[in-house]
Amino acid sequence: MRKKVTLITGVSGEVGLALVKSLAELGYNNLLTLDLRSLPPEYNQYSIHIQGDILDKSLLNRLVSEYEIVAIFHLAALLSTRAEFTPVAAHHVNVEGTMGLLQLAAEQSEWRGEPVLFIFPSSIAAYGMPDLKTKSQYPRVREWEWNYPITMYGCNKLYCEMLGTYFCSNYRQLATEAPQMLDFRSVRFPGLISALTVPSGGTSDYGPEMLHAAAQSLPYSAFVRPDTQIPFMAMPDAVNALLLLSRAERESLNRTVYNVTSYSLTAEQFREQVLMAFPAAEIDFKPDLKRQKIVDSWPADLNDNDSRRDWGWKPEYNMERSFNEYLVPNIRKRYQV
Ligand code: SER
Repeated sequence: MRKKVTLITGVSGEVGLALVKSLAELGYNNLLTLDLRSLPPEYNQYSIHIQGDILDKSLLNRLVSEYEIVAIFHLAALLSTRAEFTPVAAHHVNVEGTMGLLQLAAEQSEWRGEPVLFIFPSSIAAYGMPDLKTKSQYPRVREWEWNYPITMYGCNKLYCEMLGTYFCSNYRQLATEAPQMLDFRSVRFPGLISALTVPSGGTSDYGPEMLHAAAQSLPYSAFVRPDTQIPFMAMPDAVNALLLLSRAERESLNRTVYNVTSYSLTAEQFREQVLMAFPAAEIDFKPDLKRQKIVDSWPADLNDNDSRRDWGWKPEYNMERSFNEYLVPNIRKRYQV
């Protein structure tokens, strides 16, 4: 008999490291993790780790022959800024990688006669506000509004949300006998901030970069204007959102894709929060026009009413708690300041 496992792809990224630790602490002792990179040594205890590529079909076949995959948290992706430099590679990883895993999940669902749970983190990048006037006129967007992404990453995420929804409701149903569907669920995250890791390749990174630089007494120039506003979320809430959504009753879900958010602030307000904790921090603003354009296309805030109603989503960390109780104390510990 194959061992039943929950698969986490992209585990060595920011969300992955936080998620695998939380799942292990909750008693999940059947975690199989996959990433191009190895796991930091202190994480080895949490999972069986495979170093490999989600695009490697023979590797995925080998995993399926050895393990019964009952759930997948598919986190592997190239983020928004990086994807603009390598759009074809981003499409390979973000779209073809997701397609391969959806197919794997669909086959496993059929074989098991029970849906495989497929959790897919999407992003605020799935939105595209046409200009700043519209961004200020429609500050709290709903899931179905302004789905006109301007980045490769945003297009990839939006399409994969649709692909997942298709696999969950119509895959092969429109042509053949109805097979067992997989159970696809997705959250659109705002910019995520972790105290333990620094993001790489994203465009919301100016927030966390400001904070991590300040804690190390390094000067920092944010690559956006001070008035730039997007929503953010502390990493423990992001992990909690994935867990809550994965545990929700299928019947209570009215959508496959849900907004989640915690608090929205401008880059200047972010700087003020950082200065409260690190008064000597040297932070200024040197907008990079291309990255600025990306952030300007993202909404100022998200409306997450449907998540709250359907699966009890509620962030535990508002702005004050996020900085005072999670980010600042843990960052101080990390850099010993
Ligand atoms: N944090 C991501 C990025 O900046 C957005 O989801 O690319």
